[in-house]
Amino acid sequence: MRVLLTGGAGYIGSHTALVLLERGHEVVVLDDFSNSSREAVRRVEELTGKTIPVIEADLADREVATAALADVAFDSVVHFAGLKAVGESVAQPTRYYRVNIDSTLVLLDLMRERGVDKLVFSSSATVYGDPEYVPQDEAHPVGVGLTNPYGWSKFMNEQIIRDAQVAWPELGAVLLRYFNPVGAHPSGRIGEDPSGIPNNLMPFIAQVAVGKREHLSVFGDTYNTPDGTGVRDYIHVMDLAEGHVAALERIAAGVTTYNLGSGTGSSVLEVVRAFGEAAGREIPYVIAPARGGDVAETVANPTKANVELEWQTTRTLADACRDSWAWQSANPQGYTA
Ligand code: NAD
Ligand code: WQD
Repeated sequence: MRVLLTGGAGYIGSHTALVLLERGHEVVVLDDFSNSSREAVRRVEELTGKTIPVIEADLADREVATAALADVAFDSVVHFAGLKAVGESVAQPTRYYRVNIDSTLVLLDLMRERGVDKLVFSSSATVYGDPEYVPQDEAHPVGVGLTNPYGWSKFMNEQIIRDAQVAWPELGAVLLRYFNPVGAHPSGRIGEDPSGIPNNLMPFIAQVAVGKREHLSVFGDTYNTPDGTGVRDYIHVMDLAEGHVAALERIAAGVTTYNLGSGTGSSVLEVVRAFGEAAGREIPYVIAPARGGDVAETVANPTKANVELEWQTTRTLADACRDSWAWQSANPQGYTA
């Protein structure tokens, strides 16, 4: 397959590009580099020994994206492009809706015009809101009590893709609901490179471990969980990347939804301990008030993906901490060093 990766220079896109190339597929990256670096793509080329055509364009701009892709051949798409910072989405809702919705609308029209009928979309466990039950399967209600525009944009995108498929029955679309992606390629050459203060737990801990930040603030320790801190299903980014390849290789007409998670929950304090062990140093932390909009616990039931995609996670939280530390310690300034 020749796969177009929108947002392919980003954290999950770069790891997926690597796994696709290793499986013998070709990839083309379209990215506006609003939250990523060309260096990530260069390093994937270095790791795989393959060349990746890169198109710099804003996918949400119909004219720009259509012109940029005019001479580019591809037969399937993984659509990662979008903005993902939950807090920022509350402060900048119109920007988040414009980018996250327009990019999908432009892409769907472009695919139909070009007769490209295979799409994998980056959705999120955030569509489940505050879960009614844990672990959540794909039948769990979605779109109830979502607390931020980012989450709503994922929910809306899922619906947009379903509606597009009704009008274009040949379209095969897979909605992948990621749980909490963490870790890095084991080489330490590519990884997560957040700009500014990290919003997410593991990149924050990694920056504390490397001495860039003094301590972690643990957001709340009175949740109804075994140690009182929030519980999440952390999935190694290489397992996640392999999930995309499995989905792409089995895609058929219609819309299918899969949870991509490990099925195991870990608390904030468990992650702190695991990272400390991987890095061989203590991670200083303080207990801080709970973060608005956070839920106590979210864990995937990944059975559907395990069975239908013949995919399952093979890497542990300890593996993710080891690989995240290898990336962070070798690249303390991320790709900009
Ligand atoms: P990321 O920010 O590293 O990657 C997104 C990429 O899209 C970046 O390279 C960015 O420059 C690009 N981009 C943004 N707007 C664009 C536009 N208008 N045109 C072209 N490119 C554009 O994020 P990620 O963690 O790799 O996430 C990838 C996808 O997975 C996103 O859609 C995100 O919402 C979704 N997701 C991420 C997580 C997570 O925790 N990382 C969890 C669930 C879902
Ligand atoms: C994990 C746990 C925090 C930072 C978010 C999005 C979700 C998806 C993944 C994109 C929680 C705690 C965190 C810190 C802390 N993204 N924490 N101190 O909130 O589960 O999910 O990223 O789709 O949509 O909402 O991930 O990594 O921010 O937090 O104590 O400095 O760590 O409270 O319990 P979250 P996270």
